[in-house]
Amino acid sequence: MGKRVVRVSAPGKIILSGEHAVVYGYPAIATAIDRRLTIFKSGNQKGIVSDIPIGSGMGSSAALAVASAAYSSVLKENSLDLGKINSTAYKMEKKRHGNPSGIDNTVVTYGGFLWYRKETEGLKTFSDIKIKRKLPRLFLIDTGRPKETTKEMVSYVSGIYKAKSSTRSLLLDIERVTKSFLKFLLREENSSFRELITENEKLLERLGVVSDSTLRLVKKIERIGGAAKVSGAGGKKGASGILLVYHPERSKLLSFTKSQNLGIFSVELGKEGVKVERNS
Ligand code: MEV
Repeated sequence: MGKRVVRVSAPGKIILSGEHAVVYGYPAIATAIDRRLTIFKSGNQKGIVSDIPIGSGMGSSAALAVASAAYSSVLKENSLDLGKINSTAYKMEKKRHGNPSGIDNTVVTYGGFLWYRKETEGLKTFSDIKIKRKLPRLFLIDTGRPKETTKEMVSYVSGIYKAKSSTRSLLLDIERVTKSFLKFLLREENSSFRELITENEKLLERLGVVSDSTLRLVKKIERIGGAAKVSGAGGKKGASGILLVYHPERSKLLSFTKSQNLGIFSVELGKEGVKVERNS
């Protein structure tokens, strides 16, 4: 018998709408992207490779949790039970992040576009969104790794949620935009992608999860005709992780990022969830 080779991979994710609000039972939309983390074993050699930036809102920790759970499941049972993998990964995420909604591990497990809602700890509902339109070409700009962890950002929002009654109406506004986003994806509403992203970002700014430097960058992108939003937990003091960016003219955006010395890459959405690449 030859040496067994096992390779499993899980995607990174971005949140299109509803981050933070999703922790309090409001809906959110997330999608798997074309960057992956792979765990492999070949004979005695074991390793992890990934092209998902760490700690930047792109689901690096969820991808690691999901891929690890999948890897153990393939080694032990020779199969992937997505429900089990998702709940094992959720437990790992809880250890790391304290009070996650579970959206990251769920979208990384199942892939595609996901409508997600945590009704209560014991019941989380989610549904695959079969999108009915071609999305514009989207880009990611990495503003850098935030000073705060996801856990710290979630606990910051929890603090203002408890202290300021106005936070609830802000979260309701986020829910309204998330619903519009859903209708846009399903072609039930003809809102503009640019407006959805811009409105989303404004609400995240009001929530206080966008740092001053990121805010200035977003304004510049808007001034040259684009739109951008923080995706994921964000960051207050320094960088805010990944920015999801839309611009109708690619060349304009690229010459802007070049002039500002910013790293930019295009991103594909709706990609596959966790999968076995090889088991032989
Ligand atoms: C992080 O990707 C999304 C947050 O809403 C936290 C969570 O849902 O666990 C900020």
